[in-house]
Amino acid sequence: MDNQNFGIGILGIGMCLPESILTNYDLEKMVDTSDEWIIKRTGISERRILDKDEPAYKLGVKAAQRAIEDAGLKPEEIDFIIVTTTSPDYLTPSMSCMIQSEIGAVNAAALDINAACTGFIYALKIAEALIANGCYKNILLVACEGLSKVVDWEDRATCVLFGDGAGAVVIGAVENGLGIVKTCVGADGSIGHNLTIPCCYLSNVDLEKRVHENKRVVWMDGSEVFKFAVKAMAEAASKVLDESNFSIEDIKLIIPHQANVRIIDGAAKRLGVSLDKMYINLNKYGNISSASIPVALKEAVDLNLIKKGELVLLVGFGGGLTWGSTVMRWNR
Ligand code: UT7
Repeated sequence: MDNQNFGIGILGIGMCLPESILTNYDLEKMVDTSDEWIIKRTGISERRILDKDEPAYKLGVKAAQRAIEDAGLKPEEIDFIIVTTTSPDYLTPSMSCMIQSEIGAVNAAALDINAACTGFIYALKIAEALIANGCYKNILLVACEGLSKVVDWEDRATCVLFGDGAGAVVIGAVENGLGIVKTCVGADGSIGHNLTIPCCYLSNVDLEKRVHENKRVVWMDGSEVFKFAVKAMAEAASKVLDESNFSIEDIKLIIPHQANVRIIDGAAKRLGVSLDKMYINLNKYGNISSASIPVALKEAVDLNLIKKGELVLLVGFGGGLTWGSTVMRWNR
């Protein structure tokens, strides 16, 4: 990879969020919570929610079409699609196949990956390697989540946190010296039981943790995940900076996973940076799992917060438990 005479970066970027907004005040009518508690403990004011009869992949379709158009490509020119999701509409067909069909990416192979909220960073790592070794030219990454469909709307500990949305990028060859510098990913499955969404099997232990009749829903030990998150975000950021020989001062903007403003604040303190360096939009969207980083990146780009040649750091953590970080030199 070190000998290649081109960079690998983002050719186009898009996002799509549902129109319906669910505010903290709406949640006050559904569970025993308050706007004050949610804002103080998480920073979230509202989130976007799919209609009950609307599948999540439709958000991915729109985000993908926007990213492909932004890249100046046609759907037929996409040769591989990776979808990251923890909330697929179906296990099969995969969300990537559903999106491939609807956007008309007839020449693309397609697969889903699940690294929960770290999914987008894992997908970047895979896409970069597949382009560097000559396997593919234009890879579409779609981070697409319909978490409202797996949330227990009677569990106040989780239902206030999550939202729906999708972000997409096209990855391909860019000017030498620009694009992805380094990506680090990791996992600690031994603490994965702290955040679970069952699918085809549910252990008795996990069944007992869940309330009411809702068995196939998100369950989380929030404080355990919180502790992991602050440490993992700071360590992942430091690791990717060390391995790419940059210091935190070299970074123009940090795009953290948007789970809780207190987690972002804790990571910023450990890294010795002010919150101004962190792009934050979780107040509007809540935690949209793997879609949170590409949606935040798209907004930061639209706001002209990152210019060509500047360094941006993406850093996330999530179920699994997993973590990941990327340094990229903005190429557009
Ligand atoms: O993307 C990865 C996924 N997840 C995360 O990143 C989340 C990580 N964890 C967190 O963000 C935080 O742990 C939470 C926001 C989930 C919870 O905040 P906390 O400060 O850790 O609160 P807590 O769980 O320690 O709960 C404090 C109190 C409890 O009451 P008692 O036991 O002190 O009487 C909870 O029952 O707050 C209560 N509580 C609520 N009260 C009002 C929990 N949820 C709510 C709620 N409204 N929605």
